Amino acid sequence: MTDDLSRILAPDLIDDTDVVVEGTLRPRTLDEYIGQREVKANLSVLLAAARGREEAADHVLLYGPPGLGKTTLATIIARELGVNVRYTSGPAVERAGDLAAILTALDERDVLFIDEIHRLNRAVEEILYPAMEDYALDVMIGKGPSARSLRLSLKPFTVVGATTRAGRISSPLRDRFGATYRLDFYEEDDLAAIVDRSARILDVSIDEAAARAIARRGRGTPRIVNRLLKRTRDHAQVHGNGRVDEATATAAMRQMEIDDEGLDSTDRKLLAAIVQKFASGPVGVQALAAVLAEEVETIEDVYEPFLLRLGFLDRTPQGRIATEAARVHLAGLGYEIPPPRRSEPAMPGFWDLPADVTPDVATGPAAPTSDEPGA
Ligand SMILES: Nc1ncnc2c1ncn2[C@@H]1O[C@H](COP(=O)(O)OP(=O)(O)OP(=O)(O)O)[C@@H](O)[C@H]1O
Ligand SMILES: [Mg+2]
Repeated sequence: MTDDLSRILAPDLIDDTDVVVEGTLRPRTLDEYIGQREVKANLSVLLAAARGREEAADHVLLYGPPGLGKTTLATIIARELGVNVRYTSGPAVERAGDLAAILTALDERDVLFIDEIHRLNRAVEEILYPAMEDYALDVMIGKGPSARSLRLSLKPFTVVGATTRAGRISSPLRDRFGATYRLDFYEEDDLAAIVDRSARILDVSIDEAAARAIARRGRGTPRIVNRLLKRTRDHAQVHGNGRVDEATATAAMRQMEIDDEGLDSTDRKLLAAIVQKFASGPVGVQALAAVLAEEVETIEDVYEPFLLRLGFLDRTPQGRIATEAARVHLAGLGYEIPPPRRSEPAMPGFWDLPADVTPDVATGPAAPTSDEPGA
């Protein structure tokens, strides 16, 4: 159970069947790629232009939270260009020589996909600069005073870099990408379409309401809706007749402890920690990580982006803050909500309201803003 839960969000797959399923569900062409309309529109122009000129396409940087389709898009780029793609990642390329070997093995116009590109080390990055800019490889010959640098030329190629952290990429590296696309969380309609498509591929019979129920709780993330669909299918097979309807979907998600906003138990633990242990914040991410026994990077990359997007969390220079919306959500689930340390402006506090008034309709007096840092 806990294993299942942690794996709903896990970017790395441990289970072989998931790898196979992800492979079969992965869209192969830009047409099959659902959502991200703006990115698709821009990308298709870039690809068509490169094809028209019969040149290597510009280097492309993709960034956004895990599971939104960066790797998928890199594969599609290569396919649309009719070239090979070579996959590597920042942590996998340890030495400059490793990258040099990869670069010299590329064919003309090939795509080199570098996942987690923000984790490339300095020495490797410096090989990449001239390679991306001039298709050149600078190698040092000899040592000491007689050492000299020799420039070798490479065949034109395209780097597709992916990262969950655009801010972590050094600016010289960022500047060498001709196009940078930010992938955002998917709209519910797009996620429902992804559920439908995946259900067809997996041969699962699912009705529209069930697809919607999954999409609504999918954290705006294709990888997660695909996993929820699989678990729901299992549930329908064991507890029903194999058909996925809304009741089965809801029951399956309840069993996975996914709530109506799509939060899992770790999300709730994170919010509850801020609300209950730190009087709703501000609290530093290190302190949160310690309380939750999670890595800071996991909190920042996997959990926070969606909580920010839901408006349950705020990042301030002083630290993380749980919002009124988060307190209302947790209170609805039966959590005890102590009053926050600081008041939020223009929002009546949850604890100030009579029990029968919902915060949406209440128009209480605005809370004082004087204690707002930076206000
Ligand atoms: N636009 C899309 N339409 C349909 N399915 C998609 C789309 N984007 C992603 N998927 C599905 O979601 C899964 C995860 O996508 P992908 O591996 O490309 O994400 P990612 O951004 O590379 O994640 P990470 O940052 O963890 O590497 C894919 O296997 C694919 O099935
Ligand atoms: Mg990926």
